[in-house]
Amino acid sequence: MPELTTRIGDLTMRSPVMLASGTVGYGPEYEGVIDFGATGAIVTKTITVEPREGNAPPRLVETPGGLLNAIGLENVGLERFLAEKLPEAAPLPVPIVASVAGTGAGQFAQLAAAVGERDEVAAIELNISCPNVERPRNPVWSDPVAVGEIVSAAREATGKTLSLKLSPNTSDILSVAEAAERAGADALTVANTLPGMRIDIERRRPALGNVTGGLSGRALMPVNLALVWKVAEHVSIPVIGSGGIGDTGDALEFLAAGAVAVQVGTALFATPEAPSEIADGLRNYMEENGFASIDELVGMAREERRTCAETA
Ligand SMILES: Cc1cc2nc3c(=O)[nH]c(=O)nc-3n(C[C@H](O)[C@H](O)[C@H](O)COP(=O)(O)O)c2cc1C
Repeated sequence: MPELTTRIGDLTMRSPVMLASGTVGYGPEYEGVIDFGATGAIVTKTITVEPREGNAPPRLVETPGGLLNAIGLENVGLERFLAEKLPEAAPLPVPIVASVAGTGAGQFAQLAAAVGERDEVAAIELNISCPNVERPRNPVWSDPVAVGEIVSAAREATGKTLSLKLSPNTSDILSVAEAAERAGADALTVANTLPGMRIDIERRRPALGNVTGGLSGRALMPVNLALVWKVAEHVSIPVIGSGGIGDTGDALEFLAAGAVAVQVGTALFATPEAPSEIADGLRNYMEENGFASIDELVGMAREERRTCAETA
């Protein structure tokens, strides 16, 4: 029987298929809908220090091959997350990765310390890449110095496994990835959504209340796959793939590019069974092709890995 186990820092997952932040709430909302038992980990909705109401509606609009969302990080805030949401999610049969977003290094440290000391939290994802909360001209996700400061501060605040979630919306993702690795990140999640918009011609106004939103779903898949390919070659910490992953083929491509795990998000809305179907599909692929472990799939499309396999 092939082994689906994969590791990110101290977090060992029974499956490389994770649930992406913001697409499954805090977990219990999807009990009975998603088979948590077949899932590697759930990344909970990003929380901020203070509660946020999010953006004005409409917040979701479909687009060919994808979805635009402009939720604006609506969340219950740190205090309620610790007091209510974590204890409610703890009984679920799946490790919890807590996603947090601060306004700067100080808040990231505060959030990482607070969630990091909780036993229910297996790892932390630092979300520096939400496109729907601010429109700065020099966003933090493009700034290696600011990213280095955020990761260092979070690293000092907690010993828990830390993954930094990058944005695809930058011209130099490698410098950001490098800064995060140097500052002590244990992994990188590659990547968040890309900004986009639709216009409602009947109403003659932007379809989203926030005007722009983040593009997710199938349309994003080749973009983020290319980023995983680049980043995985450049850093030595594990990369987690995210962006339009909906079936076994997509997951295999991300693993073959160098990701050690994948996150499923938008696909869950139409196919909540996707995580377990992908886990089964990976197992079948491995059985049919003589792979014993996920490690053997990671980077299998890369020249250096191919050469090793061919000469072995
Ligand atoms: C409705 C919605 C809400 C999201 N909220 C968050 C969030 O709170 N934090 C975060 O890091 N990513 C958030 N994301 C991004 C997803 O976690 C994921 O990285 C992205 O959608 C790309 O993957 P997908 O195409 O599989 O959805 C959200 C995505 C959607 C569609």
